[in-house]
Amino acid sequence: MVIWLIGLSGAGKTTIGAELVRQLRPRIANLVFVDGDAIREVWGDSPGHDIAGRQVNAARASRLCAMLDSQGIHAVAAILSIFPEWQAWNRQHFSSYFEVFLDTPMDVLERRDHKGLYAAARRGEMKNVVGVDIPFPRPPRPDLVLAPPAVLEPPHAIVDRILTRLPAIT
Ligand SMILES: Nc1ncnc2c1ncn2[C@@H]1O[C@H](COP(=O)(O)OP(=O)(O)OP(=O)(O)O)[C@@H](O)[C@H]1O
Ligand SMILES: [Mg+2]
Repeated sequence: MVIWLIGLSGAGKTTIGAELVRQLRPRIANLVFVDGDAIREVWGDSPGHDIAGRQVNAARASRLCAMLDSQGIHAVAAILSIFPEWQAWNRQHFSSYFEVFLDTPMDVLERRDHKGLYAAARRGEMKNVVGVDIPFPRPPRPDLVLAPPAVLEPPHAIVDRILTRLPAIT
């Protein structure tokens, strides 16, 4: 199974994903954490962040998870996905796919701005920021949407919500 956390930069994908893995590992040893930043570290950042580069990255992330899943390795993916077609691909190719949309409001993201992306984009110093100059299509078929107030709760409470809704893992 692949649990995929979608949301804009700062939505909490890495934070929630890491905590989810920490809580699931005692029960599921064959579980890996596939974080968006790790994907770019593993393969290098040459695709860049424009839409074409994001397509390359999306393909890498989905195909990696498919390879793991086909060998019985579960994955938690914490990756900003802006392509509904790759979300559909995931649903078709993984043995089981549970998509969580962290619908954190833009004003909260801009306040967090942990990478300084939004401030730089607003100053006109950075391009290709999703939610600013790259549109973010809302995922059409998430299995779970966490919007305010739920998505503003502390990470452990959000993880509890996901665990409650997760289908049984064999
Ligand atoms: N539920 C939450 N409540 C308060 N702060 C949070 C919450 N979730 C995440 N944060 C904080 O927001 C910041 C961004 O979180 P995180 O790195 O998990 O986002 P992300 O979605 O992985 O972003 P990116 O796409 O840039 O990697 C961090 O400083 C984190 O501590
Ligand atoms: Mg992250």
